[in-house]
Formats: sequence, C-alpha cells, structure tokens
Amino acid sequence: MWCWLLFASLVLRCAARVHIPSSKSTVDVKVINVANFTAPLAGAVFQPVLPGHEVLSIPMHAFLVEHGTSGKRLMFDLGMRSDPQNLAPSISSLFFKTGVYSAAPFKDITELLNEGGIPLDSIETVIWSHSHFDHIGDMSRFPNTTNLVIGPGTNRSLYPEFSDAALQASDFAGHKVTELDFDGTNLTLSGFPALDYFGDGSFYLLNTPGHLDGHITALARVTPSFIVLGADTCHHAGQMRPRPEFQHAYPCPAHLLAQARATVSTQYFWSPESRPGVFDMRSRAQPLLSIVDRPNGIDQDPVAGRVSLDKITNFDAHEDFFVVLAHDVSLLGVLPYFPKSLSGWRHHGMKEHAVWAFLDERNPAFRFGPVMAAF
Ligand SMILES: *[C@@H]1O[C@H](CO)[C@@H](O)[C@H](O)[C@H]1NC(C)=O
Ligand SMILES: *[C@@H]1O[C@H](CO)[C@@H](O)[C@H](O)[C@H]1NC(C)=O
Ligand SMILES: *[C@@H]1O[C@H](CO)[C@@H](O)[C@H](O)[C@H]1NC(C)=O
Ligand SMILES: *[C@@H]1O[C@H](CO)[C@@H](O)[C@H](O)[C@H]1NC(C)=O
Ligand SMILES: [Zn+2]
Repeated sequence: MWCWLLFASLVLRCAARVHIPSSKSTVDVKVINVANFTAPLAGAVFQPVLPGHEVLSIPMHAFLVEHGTSGKRLMFDLGMRSDPQNLAPSISSLFFKTGVYSAAPFKDITELLNEGGIPLDSIETVIWSHSHFDHIGDMSRFPNTTNLVIGPGTNRSLYPEFSDAALQASDFAGHKVTELDFDGTNLTLSGFPALDYFGDGSFYLLNTPGHLDGHITALARVTPSFIVLGADTCHHAGQMRPRPEFQHAYPCPAHLLAQARATVSTQYFWSPESRPGVFDMRSRAQPLLSIVDRPNGIDQDPVAGRVSLDKITNFDAHEDFFVVLAHDVSLLGVLPYFPKSLSGWRHHGMKEHAVWAFLDERNPAFRFGPVMAAF
C-alpha cells in the first residue's frame, strides 16, 4: 500500500514536469493593468454561471518585456485603446449604442509607458496575442519603427470593407507586420509548437489555438523561473484549478478549505466527498469552471481551446512557472504593477499567495456562491 502511494505520487510529480532547454539568458517582465472592463459576458466566457453572477469585471493585462543582454524592448499585448469611440463600429457600438460594455476612463498604455520612462520609439516590437480589441491597443500611437507581430492565421479583414470587422486600417498602417509561422519549428514546450524569439532561450512564443484564429501565448525566462503570458487561453483562475497535479503541488490552505465548505454552492459544484450544503475542495479533481461549449461562447474553437488549456495547466502545476492570464481578476491585489518588475515573483512567494485567492469569498474572482439581493 505504502509503495503504491509512493509510486502514485511519483507519477503525479512526473506528469507535472515540463522540459525547457536550459539557458542563462533572461528577460525582465513588467505587467500593466490597462483598464478594468465590465460586461454581462460571464455566460459566454465560462460555465457554470450562478444566478446573479452574469456580469464580468476583469482587468486587461499587457506586458513590457526587456531583453537582458541586448536591452531590446517589446510589448506583449496592449490592452484596449483609451478612446473606445474610435474602435471599429462593431465594437464601439457595444460601448456607446447598447452600453453593454463599459470601462471607467483610463490612460492609454502609450501614456503610461512614456510616464514610466519608456519612450515609445524604444519599443522594437508589439506582439498581439490575438486581434481582439482588448489586446491590440492603438498601434497608430506607436512610431512606424515599431514592428507588429501577429499569430498564424490572424484574420486581417478590415472595417469598412467588412462591416463586422473589429480591425481597421489604422491598426496596421505604417508598421512592418510579421505573421508567425510555427510550421518550420521543431521545438515544442508543454506540447505547444514554440519559437525562440531572441534565439537564446529567454523568450518563447507558443502556438496556442482555440480562443481565436492566431491566438498565441508566451513563456518568459526570468531567472531561474518562468512567467507564462497566458493571454486568453482561459479567462478565470477557476478554469485552470484545481487539477490533481495542481492540488498536489499547491494544497489548498486550511482556512480556504474551511471557508469553501460553507460558501461554495453544492447545487452547482460537486466533488466526491461533498455533502449537501458542504463543498469539499480537496476531493475535487477538475477545475471549478470550464470553457463554454455552447456556440455563443467567446472561444472560436472550444475543443482546441480545451486542449490548449490542458497544456497551460501543465505549467500551472509546476513551481517554476507562474501563469498570468490577460484577464485574471484574482491577481488584482497580488501583482506588482509597472514600473515595478514581475520577474521576482518566485522570490516574493507571489504564486503561493495567488493561486487559491479565487476561492476566497472576499476576492473579486469569487463566483461560486449564491448572490444576495443588493437591497
Ligand atoms: C482596476 O481596479 C483596481 C481594483 O479596484 C484598481 O486598483 C485599479 O486602479 C483599477 N485600474 C484601472 C486602470 O482603472
Ligand atoms: C474574418 O473577419 C471578418 C470580419 O469580422 C468576417 O466577416 C470573416 O468571416 C472572418 N473570416 C474568417 C475565416 O473567420
Ligand atoms: C506611419 O505610416 C503611416 C502609413 O504609411 C503614415 O500615414 C504615418 O504618417 C506614418 N507615421 C509616422 C510618424 O511616420
Ligand atoms: C531544430 O532546428 C534547429 C534550427 O533550425 C536545428 O539547428 C536543430 O538541429 C533542429 N533539431 C532537431 C532535433 O531537428
Ligand atoms: Zn481578451
């Protein structure tokens, strides 16, 4: 019996192992929350959604990546532009005509960079994880010397030629645009075809299909650990957690286990050792939330999206990797924001602090209990 347990635990540990070629080269990563965005989109983004929890309020993370040896700078995503009235009409109408989308006024990321001592002409490249409005910023604010990198198969249809297009000419004009090609690569990381961006193992781009044509993620080496820029592989920490390997590496803290027994709805969430009205997190083997499989979901290809999510969670279960999703609201009070660096996450115990926060009823990511009427 004891031997079997030991064996099982070794298998679990091995399952969570991810091989990355060794390298001494690193990048520095800084994260910016460009805006807090609110929309009644929960039902399109994950399931299940409990009554009263239909509205989603989420950050928009963008990343400044600085290469250690050359000092080259790039941005991975830009969040949304600060003048939503100038988005393509199919999107701006959601802010101004129907009003279903909203964001309190905020500074454009280009202003934040300037104020933080990062001149825009020092940004060699902007990489879009994908072409949704909440990631592409406003490229016309960048000098034409800033290049644009997009994922394979990105739909480049423009408004007004396509009345429903989310992109417009000004999103590309003047910039050299490179569409990534993963066909020629023989490198795979956690099952993702990968490109070694600087050629020295400091920053990889990963082909992560599912959310939208051309959706990519990134893996940054920040001595001696990694940050996974998870983009929109999923939108909530509860879509990644818990999984068996994850619970093994990061056991749920006792106070949250106790709290979850009383706060998580057993009508919507189940685990083998839950009893009516008492939810047991420890025995739960799948994430609490999943990618929406209905056709009105936000993910273009939910089947491919689930496969990509599985591979990302392989990183999530491993102590060397910190997964930062573009819209993970559980991280709001946890991450140090630009101009501070995120690279010291491991030294500062940030992951231990962050990974179960979504289960705390005081955290904005908590959406697992009944909602009381507001008056
Ligand atoms: C987003 O919300 C957080 C938490 O309320 C706040 O600290 C932050 O300043 C907001 N960010 C923006 C860009 O509005
Ligand atoms: C590309 O985007 C346009 C504009 O939104 C849309 O009409 C078209 O169907 C898209 N093409 C594909 C292959 O998804
Ligand atoms: C960048 O290129 C676009 C399109 O060619 C042009 O309209 C714009 O004036 C250029 N901007 C700068 C700052 O050179
Ligand atoms: C992978 O590709 C690189 C660069 O093209 C090449 O140097 C290397 O030999 C290849 N490795 C394998 C195992 O094919
Ligand atoms: Zn997004």
